[in-house]
Amino acid sequence: MIGVLRQTAVYRAGVSGRRPRVPTDAAGLEGRARKAMPREAFAYIAGGAGTGATIRANREGFDRRRIVPRMLRDVSGRDSGIELLGRRLASPFLLSPVGVLEMAHEEADLAVARAASAEGVPMIFSNQASKPMEACAAAMGQGPRWFQLYWSTSNDLVESFVGRAEACGCEAIVVTLDTTLLGWRTQDLDLAYLPFLRGKGIAQYTSDPVFRRIIATEPAQLGPDEQPKPTPAALRTLVQLTRAYPERFVNGLRSGHARAAVQTFTRIYSRPSLSWEDLPFLRERTKLPILLKGILHPDDAARAVDEGMDGVIVSNHGGRQVDGATSTIEALPGIARAVDGRVPIVLDSGVRSGADAFKALALGATAVGIGRPYAYALAIAGEAGVRELLQNLKADFDLTLGLSGCRSVAEIGPEALTEPASGPFATPR
Ligand SMILES: Cc1cc2nc3c(=O)[nH]c(=O)nc-3n(C[C@H](O)[C@H](O)[C@H](O)COP(=O)(O)O)c2cc1C
Repeated sequence: MIGVLRQTAVYRAGVSGRRPRVPTDAAGLEGRARKAMPREAFAYIAGGAGTGATIRANREGFDRRRIVPRMLRDVSGRDSGIELLGRRLASPFLLSPVGVLEMAHEEADLAVARAASAEGVPMIFSNQASKPMEACAAAMGQGPRWFQLYWSTSNDLVESFVGRAEACGCEAIVVTLDTTLLGWRTQDLDLAYLPFLRGKGIAQYTSDPVFRRIIATEPAQLGPDEQPKPTPAALRTLVQLTRAYPERFVNGLRSGHARAAVQTFTRIYSRPSLSWEDLPFLRERTKLPILLKGILHPDDAARAVDEGMDGVIVSNHGGRQVDGATSTIEALPGIARAVDGRVPIVLDSGVRSGADAFKALALGATAVGIGRPYAYALAIAGEAGVRELLQNLKADFDLTLGLSGCRSVAEIGPEALTEPASGPFATPR
């Protein structure tokens, strides 16, 4: 009954003159976050690939599907919980992996981990996190957590990441497939800003024993053209990335480890040659469930199941990779048919409300992932902001469920939605 409780809490606080810390409306949230962040940080988080067509498509996809509420069904007792990979969750929301959260707030992943754990929402630790997974896990108690992997060119590093994730109590490994190359991100390109080159978002690497060994034994060699020109800006960057490295600043400057870490990271973080043939390597090295993230085609989803994967995440990376890629809600029905209930389907990209989650569940998703909204809430109000955002999403979903005439997630089916409207008129099924 979280919906009514949350509403009541907000309105009661209003009587004493207090307003919510973070806007409940998605556009308002983004607007406030823009003001709270430096220009480069907001561009990195909000931006997408190319013209932003897929960011828009993600929203349009949800908007074209409409809910048809049913009446007189006694929705006084509701359960908005789901079952996912053997765990009971109070709501269908997960926190999708978002890297470089230090751009939003200095407590970064730690603040998010505490908020997620307090709200019982699983957090997927990013491979590009700003804080090592061990620190986040320690902040979470028994809170559910998964680890997201970018498959490095070094299989030793892959193995090390996965071993650490197991030791941290992660309950699943998410392999992100859609970012073996970085998309053409126009906002970041125009600002000539990539956080990793400033030592941000590489904490999983700099805290890793295999990565440190690689730096020591295979130092990256820069060609004469790759050496940064010794300008004041380059000096500032050197100071920044040395500060970001887990070593005393003076030692870091002297040892050159910080710069070597960035160079080594750039060289090995991703493997564009990744193919289906690589998956058994991972399957043989962990007993944890493996989910493939970035699936948009039914055939890829079916193959993932055939290859022994335990779930798929329908995602276009929030429109950050292929400009013009299909929206995830459009891709979902075909994927749900191909998967046919054999493994859970998580959907992210553009999910902003309880109604979006309802629509995704109606079309076959088991759960939904949230990306940018929690980075925005973090930027606005830190841990408390992320907590509020999660409470709002859970409340909104609970109310949407009941007001649509459903008492539980099991009662949400495709008949609860109209066919996607191409014109102004939508027809009930
Ligand atoms: C700033 C930012 C960083 C991200 N970093 C990662 C990452 O490290 N790993 C990953 O698999 N996905 C990453 N994503 C993609 C998210 O996991 C998710 O797919 C996407 O944000 C969902 O779309 P939404 O932002 O519209 O909710 C990132 C997204 C953003 C906005």
